[in-house]
Amino acid sequence: MARNDDYLPLFETKTAKGLIPFRLFAASMFTSICFIMVYRVNQIQKPAKEEEEALLGRKWTWIGMFIAELWFSLCWILNVVVRWKPVYRVTFKDRLSKRYNEKDFPGIDIFVCTADPIIEPPIMVLNSVLSVMAYDYPPEKLSVYLSDDGGSDLTFYALLEASQFAKEWLPFCRKFKVEPRSPEAFFHRAPKQVEDSAMVKEWTSIKKLYQDMKTRIQTTTKLGRISEEIRKQHKGFHEWDSVSGQHDHDTILQILIDSKAVDNEGKRLPILVYLAREKRPTYHHNFKAGAMNALIRVSARISNAPVILNVDCDMYSNNSESVRDALCFFLDEEKGHEIAFVQFPQLFDNLTKNDIYNHFMRIISEVEFAGLDSYGGVYYVGTGCLHRRESLCGKKHSKTLKQNLINTRYRKEEESASVLEEICRELASCTYEDNTQWGMEMGLKYGCPVEDIISGIDILCRGWKSIYYNPERKGFLGLAPSTLLQSLVQHKRWIAGDFQILLSKYSPLLYGHGKIPLPLQISYTQYMLWAPTSLVWLYYYVVPSLCLLKGVALFPETLNPWVIPFLYVFFGNRAYTLGECLCYGGTLREWLNEQRMWVFRRSTSHLFAFFDNILKLLGITDSTFIITAKVDDDHEDVSIKYEQELMEFGATSPMSTILASLALLNAIIFAVGLKRLIEEYDKTLVTNPFVLQIILCGLLVFINLPVYIAMFLRMDKGRIPTSITCQSFILALAACSIIQMY
Ligand SMILES: *[C@@H]1O[C@H](CO)[C@@H](O)[C@H](O)[C@H]1NC(C)=O
Ligand SMILES: *[C@@H]1O[C@H](CO)[C@@H](O)[C@H](O)[C@H]1NC(C)=O
Repeated sequence: MARNDDYLPLFETKTAKGLIPFRLFAASMFTSICFIMVYRVNQIQKPAKEEEEALLGRKWTWIGMFIAELWFSLCWILNVVVRWKPVYRVTFKDRLSKRYNEKDFPGIDIFVCTADPIIEPPIMVLNSVLSVMAYDYPPEKLSVYLSDDGGSDLTFYALLEASQFAKEWLPFCRKFKVEPRSPEAFFHRAPKQVEDSAMVKEWTSIKKLYQDMKTRIQTTTKLGRISEEIRKQHKGFHEWDSVSGQHDHDTILQILIDSKAVDNEGKRLPILVYLAREKRPTYHHNFKAGAMNALIRVSARISNAPVILNVDCDMYSNNSESVRDALCFFLDEEKGHEIAFVQFPQLFDNLTKNDIYNHFMRIISEVEFAGLDSYGGVYYVGTGCLHRRESLCGKKHSKTLKQNLINTRYRKEEESASVLEEICRELASCTYEDNTQWGMEMGLKYGCPVEDIISGIDILCRGWKSIYYNPERKGFLGLAPSTLLQSLVQHKRWIAGDFQILLSKYSPLLYGHGKIPLPLQISYTQYMLWAPTSLVWLYYYVVPSLCLLKGVALFPETLNPWVIPFLYVFFGNRAYTLGECLCYGGTLREWLNEQRMWVFRRSTSHLFAFFDNILKLLGITDSTFIITAKVDDDHEDVSIKYEQELMEFGATSPMSTILASLALLNAIIFAVGLKRLIEEYDKTLVTNPFVLQIILCGLLVFINLPVYIAMFLRMDKGRIPTSITCQSFILALAACSIIQMY
């Protein structure tokens, strides 16, 4: 092992700039919040004036506002804790390569998980696999495992094609240092990159190879079955002879590239393994956690690398040096021994300029996760993450036992592929985990839809630390949904999972008590409170508007000094988020889109996530609340609109109805309120108690503009269907008239 005498660290941690202004701002906000609280409490205690006496429920509405504001303040405090001192990591790959010889690098086992050949088309899986096979890393140290929970021979076929194509693709990537190394992404943006004339020729020929392969795979996928001709290519297809269904089959395990295969230049290729673990209707398969655990066992027998990289099949590696970056953390002499996993941000490839559905979540990935990192523990988000095998397998961290990745024996004795396959089939069987600690103490945890997050928290509770690494050039990119509904449904799933953790025994406040730092426990809780916050938010969304209609004032009058803290908290916070977005490279329109998506998500995704969990808790089956997003098949059309940044509503779903009803309700009330304001202009503007309510209502109307446009002006398929518009009108008018009568 070649080592420098001076032990320069392999990575560096920097604290974010601008913390002092932020903390001053936070202090001023806190003061204003206190003023608001004082005002509310005073007003609630005050006996109501004569004319208000008649307004039943005024007091209760005020108490509601008070509770809502108290709740928002709590959330705000959590938010401040998260961003108290974000840190950023910088790696030194040059020091790494100086200090360690390439042949001493630890092996990396890469797990790619796929679950359904329809939702996750084989060609996408293939690109993901090729991009990680082509890492700039000694290929004999890489092993790629594909877990196919769909048990589909179409996916297997794509992987077989990948194993052939890799023989050309890997030397090509090496020779011209191409980036990114997913062929689809590379050829998509390549024309600008091809300057070198030697490259042009090879570029053309390899592009043709890729296109031909893509056509073959897509034809087969369309056909839905493997033709006889293809079946003859590999013995592995025979394994499907005994498959009786997606959830009822033996383990299918094929080593497509074994440890002796070479590419067209005679260099070794990474090992490539296809695994569809055994499935039986009588056994619970535990979703992705089950697949990961099977992969951990199988890979331990085949390559047993000390580092495991996990990527979802809809993501590809956008940087061939990410593995080296991660090693800078694991191999750092001083701090490396306590690091269990290195998490890269989960980002998307095909975003529009202003990120209309706020997929990027710039602030979460740039600021908040950096904040979690400063407390020593970012989440494991389930993709784009490199783990130390032993921490994933349940080992506790101990200071005395410095686990050295370099000296770990990497590959077990060479056995022939067919013998290995036979042994490994057993490891992936349904019964293997019976009466073992798998899914509890070992591997990923079972029994929760967000098993990744719980498993990550559990690893931290066992004394390990995690690192969030968010370089300028992103390590992994995925595909973002391109309609509003898909995006909302995806968020609902995430938020529901987060809320479920809060209700489970893994709630960070209880489970993490004494094991992870308090600020980290608090920071985690922030995300888990999003679901219940939606109720409070809905109150603030609807009640001030309804009260405006009814003539109940909820805020101080225009010239009352108490109005200042309200204005400061509201506009100050907006201004702060805008500043944050611009500082981290966003645009004004992106910020607006983000604000809009917050409104939409809170009134649908978060709300549904809340009720989902409550119904489950009450023992009412969760199937009552399934949302079906009917997605338009017209992809061409959808993606054009996506590029034009036109929101795609299009489908009928309870979510659309809620969005449309709330938008209409606010529009109607805003019109009424404005009319009243104009009528009473001369006498009461200065002491008008409704001005704040009108402003709030007006802002909501402004945020909802795309909804009105989609209801009344747009003619394309992405508009809100007329049936939903009608329903929403009825709902909004009903709400108004009930309030009027009452
Ligand atoms: C992905 O990689 C390419 C170069 O290969 C780079 O130009 C691009 O900025 C990267 N994308 C992101 C989001 O970092
Ligand atoms: C982004 O990817 C999705 C999924 O493949 C696709 O439907 C959509 O059209 C893409 N959008 C753009 C702008 O490329």
